[in-house]
Amino acid sequence: MDRQRLVVFSGAGISAESGLRTFRDSDGLWEEHRIEDVATPEAWHRDPTSVLRFYDQRRAQVIAAMPNAAHIAIAQLQGKFEVVVVTQNIDDLHERAGSEHVLHLHGEILKARSTKDPGLVVQLEKPTIEIGDRCALGSQLRPHIVWFGEAVPMMDPAIDLIARADHLLVVGTSLNVYPAAGLIQYAPRYCSITLVDPADVTLTRAGMTHIKAKASEGVPSLASEWMRKGSITA
Ligand code: APR
Repeated sequence: MDRQRLVVFSGAGISAESGLRTFRDSDGLWEEHRIEDVATPEAWHRDPTSVLRFYDQRRAQVIAAMPNAAHIAIAQLQGKFEVVVVTQNIDDLHERAGSEHVLHLHGEILKARSTKDPGLVVQLEKPTIEIGDRCALGSQLRPHIVWFGEAVPMMDPAIDLIARADHLLVVGTSLNVYPAAGLIQYAPRYCSITLVDPADVTLTRAGMTHIKAKASEGVPSLASEWMRKGSITA
């Protein structure tokens, strides 16, 4: 029998217990930095140095952080199931926990990209991006992050993955930011959907099971149940 296909759709909440702050909780990042000052193309054109310094700080936090029990449990599920992670997060904690197939919808903080050719993406060899750091085409490098108001090029591959899922595990996302939040609608009719999030998230699809728990508790307990049964059930 084919292995069951699990798609994990994660948001900032899965990395909260690794010490990376979420966006919309009360201690959210955006309270200190207005979105329009740091995460828009306009901010980049107005004040690229401030934008670079902001993302340098985020990068330093990610490098110092460690995957938590939720990231690790998801990686372990690969032992029995076909697992793909679609994450809104820019950190690499899923990869460091051992997940082999990770699609980043909103970019990756450890990479930079050309300001001339958005397809020219490079792994950063150092923890900062400076004014004057250039891509192979000679243009300034910028963080490999999808800013507000920009297209989300990974949406189509993410839709393809979710459209073929047997089960969708949604973890730690307020489902506030589109188009990413709309991905759930592409799950097939037979696909069961479980959300692990301690808050009263507005469920965007009927029949979703909501486990109100922190990721580090809810995900390992679900994962060990599925591993024991050898089957994913809602
Ligand atoms: N475990 C699980 N979920 C948690 C935890 C935890 N320990 N702590 C908080 N959460 C939940 C919150 O209840 C909330 O529903 O994580 C969610 C975080 O929501 P947001 O801050 O809105 O993050 P996210 O949904 O990932 O945001 C989407 O918005 O700013 C943009 O591009 C950015 O990718 C980001 C996107």
